[in-house]
Amino acid sequence: MRRHSSLHSEDLHTIIVNSTTPLTTRVDCGATVRRRVGDVMQQIGVEEKVLLLYQKSLPQVWLDNVRQSIEKEDFQVFVQCLPDGDEAKSLEQLISCWERLQYHAFTRNDCIVAIGGGAVSDLGGFCAATYLRGIKLVLLPTTLLSQVDASIGGKTGLNMPAGKNQLGSFYFPHSVIVDPEVLSTLSDRELKSGMGEIVKYACIEETIAESTDFKPGPRPLLEALSENFASGITFDNPFLAPLISICIRMKLAVVLADPFEGRLRRCLNLGHTIGHGLENVSNYRISHGEAVTIGTAFAYRLSVNRGLIAANEAAKVEELIKVLKLPYRMPPELDREKLIQAVVFDKKRSGTNIKFVLPERGVGKVNLDTSVSFEELSAFIKQDAGD
Ligand SMILES: NC(=O)c1ccc[n+]([C@@H]2O[C@H](COP(=O)([O-])OP(=O)(O)OC[C@H]3O[C@@H](n4cnc5c(N)ncnc54)[C@H](O)[C@@H]3O)[C@@H](O)[C@H]2O)c1
Repeated sequence: MRRHSSLHSEDLHTIIVNSTTPLTTRVDCGATVRRRVGDVMQQIGVEEKVLLLYQKSLPQVWLDNVRQSIEKEDFQVFVQCLPDGDEAKSLEQLISCWERLQYHAFTRNDCIVAIGGGAVSDLGGFCAATYLRGIKLVLLPTTLLSQVDASIGGKTGLNMPAGKNQLGSFYFPHSVIVDPEVLSTLSDRELKSGMGEIVKYACIEETIAESTDFKPGPRPLLEALSENFASGITFDNPFLAPLISICIRMKLAVVLADPFEGRLRRCLNLGHTIGHGLENVSNYRISHGEAVTIGTAFAYRLSVNRGLIAANEAAKVEELIKVLKLPYRMPPELDREKLIQAVVFDKKRSGTNIKFVLPERGVGKVNLDTSVSFEELSAFIKQDAGD
């Protein structure tokens, strides 16, 4: 198997991002780092108590590993189980976490440790940001999607009935602990869902390289992905751990350059306007990664339609999505009118336009603020129905 030549298997590395912005995030990556959570908590100055958040279907072994590591350092651990999926990102769950922290008299130097996918880190992050105006936060992402994306960059979020992530804040975790071994229990569907965000990184690679100190490999990520995952996305693929590390570096480079999404950080939203609408309208039956993949493919078709990118460039991305066996069209039965309503309600609306991140010139480059009118978008969603 040929490798993307800039990628190397790394047993353990620590990245500390420290800048003039309020951003100070430490990211530890490597097999078995989950057993060092207690150690890391000592290093970041956690004083006494820990609220460990996890979701119901997280395999017990990961919870036990983390709990043992924390207890070994004599922290007092309280555990809170959340419902699976986006159900965790609700006001009800938030209030129950706040109450738990208050009941056990947590102070600002105590800590929330969120172990799980993006839903747990979004809720845990929001809770840590708001309780006493900010307590310590450690994330231990256990899905591919949360390792490469959701746990990195300080965005937190809760859903409202009308839309995804309608409540949220920026709150940078004090530490993120990324252990690829925990992915061994993930279902094929969850692995593929994570790959949806990785396809997005391939589609913004050049924009990131042009605007930050991120150094891409000699071959585009898109090519490396097609080649190394043509036979499927599996946990034991030796390309997976280095790929996770590359994506984290890409995201950190963007976040460091533009922590609060003034401009560049918008590139990470490629595929998300349609994606969030799809998640909401399908009642979260379409996963986040699947929705982002469909949204990314949609953005390429819209760009071709507007003459921003050549059809043969867009076809490369569609081909990659097919090779990875990810979805690239909206389900035919999906209610298009409801989707249009959901998209129009998106955070990125401005008057009667939506700010869209659209591919331009070639794969890897995006335009960060194309305005698309509701009218054009509605017509395109309706017309984009078939395969
Ligand atoms: N804040 C951000 O920057 C950001 C970025 C991307 C996505 N998100 C959010 O992340 C969420 C999606 O995250 P996700 O894809 O990780 O899904 P998820 O958090 O819903 O987790 C999916 C399921 O996998 C289970 N699970 C987690 N780890 C496991 C493991 N190791 N083995 C077996 N099962 C495991 C969970 O219990 C859960 O049921 C969405 O709500 C999305 O909005 C946030």
